[in-house]
Amino acid sequence: MNSPPVVPGASIGVIERYRQFLPVTETTPVVSLSEGSTPLIFSPRLSAIVGRGARVYLKHEGLNPTGSFKDRGMTVAVSKAIESGARLLICASTGNTSAAAAAYAARAGIRCAVLLPAGKITIGKLAQAFVYGAVVIALEGNFDQCLQLVRDFASEPGVAIVNSINPDRLEGQKTAAFEVIDALGDAPDVHLLPVGNAGNTSAYWRGYVEYRRANRATRLPRIFGFEASGAAPIYSERVAARPETAASAIRIGNPASWKMATAAFRESGGSIGIITDEEIFAAHHWLASNEGLFVEPASAISVAALLKAKPDAPGAFSPLPDLAENAVIVCTLTGHGLKDINAVLNDRLKPVSAPADKSAILSILGMPT
Ligand code: F0G
Repeated sequence: MNSPPVVPGASIGVIERYRQFLPVTETTPVVSLSEGSTPLIFSPRLSAIVGRGARVYLKHEGLNPTGSFKDRGMTVAVSKAIESGARLLICASTGNTSAAAAAYAARAGIRCAVLLPAGKITIGKLAQAFVYGAVVIALEGNFDQCLQLVRDFASEPGVAIVNSINPDRLEGQKTAAFEVIDALGDAPDVHLLPVGNAGNTSAYWRGYVEYRRANRATRLPRIFGFEASGAAPIYSERVAARPETAASAIRIGNPASWKMATAAFRESGGSIGIITDEEIFAAHHWLASNEGLFVEPASAISVAALLKAKPDAPGAFSPLPDLAENAVIVCTLTGHGLKDINAVLNDRLKPVSAPADKSAILSILGMPT
């Protein structure tokens, strides 16, 4: 596979942007959909809610090619898989990994099989796996059981596992931390993330540490992860046999990167917290209606944590203990809202009926007719 021609002004993809930090060589065939280089959006309202002079930024990973942060890891994992001669990609997924794997497999011209917990994947993500041409297998079991089964394929010739147990995935995902530092000029004080399989938390920490070591940053952020309260194995320090949350992306009871993420929280001086589904969905709605950012429910969890801040009560900022004055805070918004349309299909979606008549519209808008 030859390197593609460079399109002026276009995003070059994370491998070309951060090649020197990634496990690729000149001869690695690059499978890219121009992922990465996502915006870091300042949120004046969240900054005001947190108070204490904080500045809150949102890293909008839903703007990647398949609508989630998984594309960063997938470009590296699939490029390396092709380099080593793989002919089939396989993964377990709560939906986003399977969408990304299917797309990059299509791009690379190889087969892809995705193992999904039956009935637990949002329709948008399922549609992606089908339309990109993956073999979609619905398993009677939860995500953790799907991943257990996928592990058994490690020794099959020509098969590459592209879950985050594949180290190339986390290598690609660490580039999001590089981008945050490149955008801010240094690392933030605090970084907040949703936690499911715990790979992304681990990848960000690795990215921050490596960039700091390369003198691209003068400091390291504290990493705070959040699990849904019904699917909180790391928080409760034991495997959840029946994880339950309406934020289906993070419905995971036995995270693959558990140890690495725990080390990231400990080494960075952060921690793991829990957020109820009610708070997740309130934040999901708040982000769309106050910031114009429509993300999937799991992606709203770190914003939900910030919304719990109590700026009027001095010293009462509970979600982030010991927050310094004027802190720079980054939340990663991991996936796009259109992936989980059922999450918003309720009464709010009923349009106001009207005849095709200007005065009727004016009266609906409360304007003089
Ligand atoms: N947010 C979204 C939108 C996700 O899809 C995931 C994980 C996470 C957060 C959590 O990231 O697993 O690295 O801790 N989705 C995986 C999947 C499990 O199969 O798509 P994590």
